[in-house]
Amino acid sequence: MKIAVLCGGISPERDVSLSTGAQVAKALRLKGHSVALIDSASDITGDPAGLFLTHSEGESAVIRDTAPDLAALLNRPEYFGRGVVDACKMADIVFTAMHGGAGEDGTLQAAFDLLGIKYTGSGSKGCAVSMDKTVAKRIMAPVSGVRMPKGMTLLRDDYNGSEEEYAASVLREIGLPMVIKPACGGSSVGVSIVRTEAELLPALELALSYEPKAVAEEYIKGREFSVGVLGGRALPAIEIRPKSGFYDYKNKYQSGCTDEICPADIPAAAEEEMRAAAVKMHDELGLSAYSRTDFIMTEDGVCYALEANTLPGMTPMSLLPQEAAAVGVDFPALCQIIIEESLNKYDRTDS
Ligand SMILES: Nc1ncnc2c1ncn2[C@@H]1O[C@H](COP(=O)(O)OP(=O)(O)O)[C@@H](O)[C@H]1O
Ligand SMILES: [Mg+2]
Repeated sequence: MKIAVLCGGISPERDVSLSTGAQVAKALRLKGHSVALIDSASDITGDPAGLFLTHSEGESAVIRDTAPDLAALLNRPEYFGRGVVDACKMADIVFTAMHGGAGEDGTLQAAFDLLGIKYTGSGSKGCAVSMDKTVAKRIMAPVSGVRMPKGMTLLRDDYNGSEEEYAASVLREIGLPMVIKPACGGSSVGVSIVRTEAELLPALELALSYEPKAVAEEYIKGREFSVGVLGGRALPAIEIRPKSGFYDYKNKYQSGCTDEICPADIPAAAEEEMRAAAVKMHDELGLSAYSRTDFIMTEDGVCYALEANTLPGMTPMSLLPQEAAAVGVDFPALCQIIIEESLNKYDRTDS
């Protein structure tokens, strides 16, 4: 098959996406596909057909040696680099190795739908509602079997100009300790755990500096887990134990900072509850092919779902690939399953 692995983009998670893309491209070449590794933000010079390489033709990445000027890209009217859409059109399917921003929030998916380009993962609506933590929370609120932390939507427009008053209302509504996070962010960028009143204003400033909308949530103290869903079924839970602090950007991506344990050492009933909740998140939010839901379990065994990720990290050491490995699915096989599951959605007449 001819596959374009699309990565990069211009979100704060660009670096993570480049890493996902490189590893996925390598795995799919190992599976015998002809793969082009494409940075969505870089211009392609020359014939895009030449970018599709099989494993035997070597590893030569299509990503440039020098990073594009991101500040300039943010200001340019078109999201894609020159030739990127043409290269995607040449592929049988695009493996979406994007994280955050337009690559994950449904915008890219909607554009590809209109252009007739097939892609992996969830469609535009599922991506859009999952990306916004305030919307996902509302959709999931009436669904039995999934508990989410109590939350409050925060708007920059309401906050600006009446900061102290606004902070006081958040304090009244949610109480301490609480978590403040951008509504649509990822990779823990802009997330703060607020334990004292003095920490609240800086946390609001930070989250609202990334986006016009954020969320305040009750802080759930407990052990952290994540559960992937692949082809409609839950993978085993993985436990995430940062060596210090919470699962922030550094603990997510700097190797050695976090112990990740799969299969997790928890009672079978708790694991089953999280696995069932992950499938409900996947189904109720209208997701396809694969997703990964984050959880915290309190000391008393109560499980809270934090969010569903529609494009979870996909390096061999990422959480969902580790969960797949625990049931005997190695990384290239996982990438292959994602391609097949994603193509299935185009065979259905109801979508
Ligand atoms: N309500 C909460 N209680 C305790 N910890 C939280 C809460 N919300 C987020 N966290 C911590 O912050 C991390 C990132 O939050 P999450 O909602 O998963 O957003 P994202 O991964 O998209 O940045 C979590 O993995 C967890 O460690
Ligand atoms: Mg998360």
